[in-house]
Amino acid sequence: MSERFPTLSGQVRVRVPAKVNVGLFVGPTRPDGYHELGTVFQALSLYDDITVAALPDGQIRVNTWGEGAASLPTDDRNLAVRAAKALRDHHGTADLGVQIMINKSIPVAGGMAGGSADAAGTLVACAKLWELDVSPGDLTPLAASLGADVPFPLLGGTALGLGRGDELTPLSTRGQYHWVLALAHRGLSTPDVFRRFDELNAVSGEVAAIRVCDDLLGALSSGDQTLLGRHLHNDLEAAALSLRPELEITLTTGRSSGALGGVLAGSGPTCAFLCDTDASAAGLADRLAELSTVRSVRRATGPVAGARLFS
Ligand code: C5P
Repeated sequence: MSERFPTLSGQVRVRVPAKVNVGLFVGPTRPDGYHELGTVFQALSLYDDITVAALPDGQIRVNTWGEGAASLPTDDRNLAVRAAKALRDHHGTADLGVQIMINKSIPVAGGMAGGSADAAGTLVACAKLWELDVSPGDLTPLAASLGADVPFPLLGGTALGLGRGDELTPLSTRGQYHWVLALAHRGLSTPDVFRRFDELNAVSGEVAAIRVCDDLLGALSSGDQTLLGRHLHNDLEAAALSLRPELEITLTTGRSSGALGGVLAGSGPTCAFLCDTDASAAGLADRLAELSTVRSVRRATGPVAGARLFS
């Protein structure tokens, strides 16, 4: 990691949003090891910026800036590197190289699909840089091969996700949603949270088949934010709380301090609160910032567009 974000000639820049799961309903484990999901994603105005520039001889390198960036791997474990390689392999152009620069605002390991957003942004940026003949729709299967959460940041907006969460249907919603995001001191591993979910449900019996709550979908399409606040839901909440009991303090405080509702973001540990106005979001952000369980607070609105090239 270095101090300044560099500017290189011929570079391409893409801005890509974080997501919150307004509803996350988890079903049984599938033969591929993933869980059957029924989820509703919303893209939020909290972005990572991906800048790419050509490198010779097929080299692929990544540098990261911003909060939490120092903890990210810079080798093949980095999802952005895997995305660039997957795109290149798909097009049979092994000689193409790229320097990927990621300026992070999406919390690392925060349940807001930061790594998936970086992979999605890298696909869009490299397709442009390498002048590949691909439409955004062509990138979707490649995105899904990288991870279940990678297709959504390409699409943005609000969408229903079925299957592993990657079979997306855009949803039309009314109004702008004000969110307050309480970031935790330490990240949570998504596989760990799903494993804990399985352990908890092995004790309590069979996991029911997926059904996304009709009230939640109705509240989004009518723009009834009070109703939506009441129906925010995440089946992974108990699993995440059993791994990080202190998140209960954040959730309870947020829910009782003026939010319309609160929900764990994805597999956590970020907690997301829906507010009726910008002013109430500001008040709630101040209240949450006082908690010892909260590292920092962000405000964001949704829905926003998916990965976009800067002109
Ligand atoms: O898709 P991705 O590899 O980013 O997901 C990370 C992990 O989350 C998976 O390896 C799996 O353990 C868990 N997961 C799951 N079911 C899903 C999505 C993710 O079990 N539908």
